[in-house]
This record gives sequence, C-alpha cells and structure tokens, in this order.
Amino acid sequence: MNILLLGSGGREHAFASKLLQSSNCSQLYVSPGNAGTNAIAKNVKLDSFEEIKDFCIKNDIKMVVVGPEQPLVDGIYDFFVRDEMLKNIAIIGPSKAGAMLEGSKAYCKNFLVKHKIPTAQYKEITIENIDEGFQFLDTLTAPYVLKANGLAAGKGVLICSTLDEAKTELKSMLDGKFGNASNTVVIEEFMHGIEFSVFVLTDNDSYKILPIAKDYKRIGEGDTGLNTGGMGAISPPIFVTDDIMAIVEKTIIIPTIDGFKKDNIIYNGFVYIGIMLTPNNIPKVVEYNCRMGDPETQAVLPRIKSDLVETFLKLSDGKLNEIDFEIDEQACVTIVLASNGYPETFEKGKKITNLQQQENEFIFHAGTTLDNEGNIISSGGRVLTTSALGKNIQDALKKANTIAERVQFENKYYRKDIGFDM
Ligand code: AMP
Ligand code: GLY
Repeated sequence: MNILLLGSGGREHAFASKLLQSSNCSQLYVSPGNAGTNAIAKNVKLDSFEEIKDFCIKNDIKMVVVGPEQPLVDGIYDFFVRDEMLKNIAIIGPSKAGAMLEGSKAYCKNFLVKHKIPTAQYKEITIENIDEGFQFLDTLTAPYVLKANGLAAGKGVLICSTLDEAKTELKSMLDGKFGNASNTVVIEEFMHGIEFSVFVLTDNDSYKILPIAKDYKRIGEGDTGLNTGGMGAISPPIFVTDDIMAIVEKTIIIPTIDGFKKDNIIYNGFVYIGIMLTPNNIPKVVEYNCRMGDPETQAVLPRIKSDLVETFLKLSDGKLNEIDFEIDEQACVTIVLASNGYPETFEKGKKITNLQQQENEFIFHAGTTLDNEGNIISSGGRVLTTSALGKNIQDALKKANTIAERVQFENKYYRKDIGFDM
C-alpha cells in the first residue's frame, strides 16, 4: 500500500526506514522529509490539510503516519475521519482532543488529577487570578516550575531557582513572554528524581508498551547548559526495573488508557509519557506528548522486531491485541550530531561526508538537505543522529560513538557522555 509520513526530523527518517522494512509498504512519501528520507522514499511538500487531502486522493494513500505534534494538535485526525473521501484512510495519531494532552498543560494536569494518576501538585493561573499564583508559589519550595499552557516550540517551561525570580517570570509570562501560549500558566511543584520516557501504542482499547528510553536534553556534558530538543537517547535505561515498570503500568498506563475511554477521547496512536522516578521509586507523570520522541524514536524503533505497517493496520482496525509485539533484547544508543552553536545561533550549509553504515548501525538524518550538486548539506541545528544496537548500553554506546566520530561536517558538535549515568 502507499503510505504518507508527515515530518522532517530524525524521528521521521527512523520511521521511514522501519515502515519500508514491511512487505505491506509499496510506495512511501514523506512530507516534507529531509535528505535521508529522500534517499529511501519520495519527499513531497504539502503545506495544508487541503493539500494533504488532494495528495492522498491522487496517490491512492491508504495510511498516514503523523510524526510531529503540530498537525495532531491542529486536528488532522478529525479532518480525515470527517471527510467522506478520506475516512477510510488509516491515520496513525490521536484526535484533536487526545493531542490536547500535549497542546495544553492545564488540560493535561486536569486529566491527570481527574483520573488519579500520580503527578506534581499544580495551579492554573491567568492574569485574573495572578495573586493566587503568587500565594501558591509561597507554599512551594525552590526550585519553582512555570509552564506556558500552550505549545511554545519546546521553550515554554521555566525552572526558577528563587521565589523572586519565579514571581517575576510568572508576571512576564502572563504579559506575553511566550505570546498567547503563556496567557495561562501552570505552576507546578518541583519533582526531584530521574526522568525516563515510556511510549505506548493504543487503539483506545488495548495497548502495547514500546521499549523504554531516556533522553539527554541539555546541550552540555554532564547534563549542563541550555535545554535542547534532545542530544541523545538510550534504550533501555537500566534503572527502570521490571518492578518499576509494573508500578508504571498499574498506576499510570492503565489509568491513562481508561481515562481516554471515560472522557470519550479518541486515541489511535502513540502516547509518550514523560515520567519522573521520584524518591522511594514512585513514578509520577511529568507530561504527555501525543507522538513519539525525537531522538528517542531513533533508539526505540531499531529494537522493535514486529512489522510496523501490520501493527498500524491492526491499530486502525481496533485489533491491536492481535499483534504479538516483539522487542529485541539488545540495547540501543542514539547520539545527536548538532551544528556548533545549537540551540542558539549556528551555521548551516555544511557538506556532510562519511555517511556509510555497517550492520546494526543506523544514521538517521534530521536537519539535512541536498544542494544543487546533490551533496548532502546541513540545514538545521540537530543535523543527524547515529544509533547502534549492542549487547548492552556500553557496547551500543561504543558503536554509536564510533559512527559519530566517523561522520564529518564542519562545526560538528556532539555530547560524548550520553549514557554517562548508567
Ligand atoms: P515538559 O515540557 O512539561 O516536559 O517540561 C520540560 C522539562 O522540564 C521536563 O522534561 C523536566 O525535565 C522538567 N520539568 C517539568 N516539570 C517538572 C516538575 N514538576 N518537576 C521537575 N522537573 C520538571
Ligand atoms: N526528546 C523530547 C521530545 O521529543 O519531546
């Protein structure tokens, strides 16, 4: 069948590679894609839901896989199911109501509390009740967590070290620091602990738990410096034992899937649950995303043995329980190669060489494009990811580092300490 994949990052290149392993996939299109997806599929540029609709009809698309959150938050699922000509296309991603769990922090916290899922205490604040916000901050201890309610390109969360700073930032967020996204601010209790990510695929009834991962968000080694989209990921993080996962399943995953049903939320896709393992091994939800993580996907998909197209077809038929979901016992490590300067200013247009890969090695492109002469050049802050499977994290790490060293482009930067805490 013909499949359309939406997105342009390393996550989408990893999805494209995995979808193409299926004998069910005849032609794969990626919009807008990157130089990596261009080499294995056909890149197309579709700028609106209407353009996506025309393309799907003209090209006999039978499945649409949505990589990033924005089209989901904008309601692409609902657009498809309400359209006579599109409603039989399998669309992999939640409805707009499901995507709101990522699109609105206040809605997310409300859902968590309503369904008694462990999370940090919080208060929802607008300019009208700012005094309540100040009072709530007075009851908390440092550091203080302030979150813009809406999507703010991954920058809308502030962790303030003093009460004064938190109060000043609260005011400036409500005054438009992140535009409309911070008209409402969620103030949260700070959770101490260690974070990891759980990915669940659900058809609204049954669910499959994907390999667990941990990403490394800061730009600098030892997890220092500015926050980024993610500089690397490992799967599995060994501190997440089977006992801890049993608690996660019972107290978080099952109530989440049940919560969708109780709230009539249509959810046919991935739920990414950011979890803090707090003292005494109590897992609490930091956030939900309505999609897979990037770069976590590049460490998770190489560990999935099952046919992804078949899995998605069962998912859209509401028969996910019929899939025997097989996970590779090997570990996988992903390292992000970025342009020096990212996440602030950086140069683009650098020619990339030494992209050859061996068995169990994966180079997934993120910010890459082709120049007029057909050279692969950098076009973004996160340029490529290198992933490798190995018998354990250390083994996979060594291999991923070897590829990271081998790939060449001017101003290449990567963290050499991914997995340092394992
Ligand atoms: P979010 O966009 O909600 O995932 O927040 C971004 C990052 O901020 C998370 O991955 C955590 O590292 C951190 N963070 C968010 N909320 C909290 C919290 N309540 N306590 C501690 N850290 C948090
Ligand atoms: N790696 C974090 C994210 O995808 O949101």
